[in-house]
Amino acid sequence: MMRIRVFDTPLGLARACARDIARALSARPGLVLGLPTGRTPIPLYRALARLHEAGRVDFSRATTFNLDEFLGLVAGDPRSYRAFMQRHLFNHVNLSPRRIHFLNGTARDVDKECRAYERAIDRAGGIDLQILGLGLNGHIGFNEPARALIARTHRTRLKPGTRRANAALFGHRLGAVPREAISMGMATILHARRVVLLATGVTKARRVERMIRGPVTPRLPASFLQLHRNVDVWIDRPAASNLELSYPTFSSSFSRASTSSPIASRTKSWARRRRNSDWG
Ligand code: GLP
Repeated sequence: MMRIRVFDTPLGLARACARDIARALSARPGLVLGLPTGRTPIPLYRALARLHEAGRVDFSRATTFNLDEFLGLVAGDPRSYRAFMQRHLFNHVNLSPRRIHFLNGTARDVDKECRAYERAIDRAGGIDLQILGLGLNGHIGFNEPARALIARTHRTRLKPGTRRANAALFGHRLGAVPREAISMGMATILHARRVVLLATGVTKARRVERMIRGPVTPRLPASFLQLHRNVDVWIDRPAASNLELSYPTFSSSFSRASTSSPIASRTKSWARRRRNSDWG
């Protein structure tokens, strides 16, 4: 069952999610978190850093597993997802380095690395709370649309659109974006006790609608979340805009004004800014 929550702004969404994580951590200090990269979670990580600075969240006993990493990049490479997490979250909170888990993009034996990651997740007792972003093509982690999906952590080939979406990390040089990555598999993700998927911006609106209401299909990997018992989908108004159009009753919790022209044009300029912005 998917619980949908629509927020007025990406910042409101990020702050609510940070508070939610803080609550989960205070209820269970040894929480095992699954974490995403991407532009979407950046405001969440900033909000978590602020909460930590204010003494309102404690990560000292938490464990983290990130979803994915590019193949061929060492952890210290500033373009790696590991470095991204360091910049945006790990440098700003009190996570113990030995409880931070990342796939090694330069592992000699990638299959062995994948198996070891699965074992490490098991040893930690499984993932309690998996935060996800949504790829422009409906991927989660790096589980790309395909005829069939892979259950467990695996090596994967990136679609051209996914490489383009990640080009900002590589100085906008598409040629520099790795063609392969390592990612948690669909079962790894679906076995988390709770999943919170975050999506913001009008560019995600169609995928969000199909993820929630469309058929469960490997052509849209995020649609498999419909099979999970405990999923929250937290989106902003632009990302919810297709739901509103197709499912008027669903939209009763937010105002009709969200499809009127002032907001629509604001949405467009926001989408433009977002395209131009860097992953930082
Ligand atoms: C990358 C990551 C995904 C992430 C997606 C969305 O491809 N591998 O885990 O969810 O980007 O990114 P964004 O939030 O920038 O739209």
